[in-house]
Amino acid sequence: MTDPTQPLLQVRGLMKDYGGRRVVDDVSFDVSAGEAVALVGESGSGKSTIAKLLSRLVEPDGGAIKLDGVNMLEREPRGPSLAYRSQLQMIFQDPFASLNPIHPIRHHLERPLLRHRRVPKEQLEARALELLTMVGLQPAADFLDAYPTELSGGQRQRVAIARALAVEPKVLMADEPTSMLDASVRMGVLGVLQGLVKDSRIALLLITHDLATARLLCDRVIVLFAGRIVEDGPSEQLLTSPSHPYTQALLAALPRGVPRVVKETHPMLPSPAGGGGCPFRSRCPESTSQCKDSMPKLEKLSEGRRVRCFNRDTAHV
Ligand SMILES: Nc1ncnc2c1ncn2[C@@H]1O[C@H](COP(=O)(O)OP(=O)(O)OP(=O)(O)O)[C@@H](O)[C@H]1O
Ligand SMILES: [Mg+2]
Repeated sequence: MTDPTQPLLQVRGLMKDYGGRRVVDDVSFDVSAGEAVALVGESGSGKSTIAKLLSRLVEPDGGAIKLDGVNMLEREPRGPSLAYRSQLQMIFQDPFASLNPIHPIRHHLERPLLRHRRVPKEQLEARALELLTMVGLQPAADFLDAYPTELSGGQRQRVAIARALAVEPKVLMADEPTSMLDASVRMGVLGVLQGLVKDSRIALLLITHDLATARLLCDRVIVLFAGRIVEDGPSEQLLTSPSHPYTQALLAALPRGVPRVVKETHPMLPSPAGGGGCPFRSRCPESTSQCKDSMPKLEKLSEGRRVRCFNRDTAHV
């Protein structure tokens, strides 16, 4: 039985090592049904890896992934079941690479419907049309027999969303879903995702470099640095009064503090510091000897807000 008071997805102490290097460390957060959460952070901070771990395209080295309170890593230790995969669906950055050009749109939608036994054969077409309508591709019948190459990037990304919806997921994870699209169609695709959260109570985990999108679309923002959560909280609060020096630096780099785009790692910026201390200390204007000696814990700052910093700024909270 689903407990309505319990978050749909609970991630606890998630960990991943690559070649002896920890790229995701002690990541814990919740996402509820009907909630949109943004994962932000510079290139290499671990955003895509977290999404791959949650969808179990990559197996975690530690931690728990609870769906409706059940740790799925324990329940399905040898890999995710078809049922698990249907519950967490991924949408990738590149709509041109994600649809096989030799098959018409009909194939891309009917295949998951059949494989996951979502509808009887005679209802396949009707359901495919319904899915296309849900993502705003209308008249849907015009798209059913079109080939991906005949569609624009924005239309293809809508098909990719419709395909993910075919298996009726509870959680959608979208990894930079609009970064390869023209600015003119971006809002349309984001609007589709927003509608799914509001109307269908889907849980959305949106990976983005764009802080304005995070603020517009997401209830909460999680900021990552070097594989760890450094700060999280309600979007508006976090982006107007950031507490962690990294979040502050992200926002300070933007004109008049208007959240726009998280900068890619710049070659001039020092790499995250190694050793046992805070990995942000090599860039932090407030770094002290304590930051070199030990790792700050992710601690509650106020209701719904956490921050990982010894010198956290509580002035605005
Ligand atoms: N398959 C892999 N093998 C080895 N290292 C990997 C692998 N996948 C990711 N990494 C490393 O893990 C770290 C996190 O990578 P990840 O792709 O999750 O970052 P990201 O936050 O999504 O960055 P971007 O914004 O560039 O997409 C990086 O240092 C990356 O080089
Ligand atoms: Mg990525």
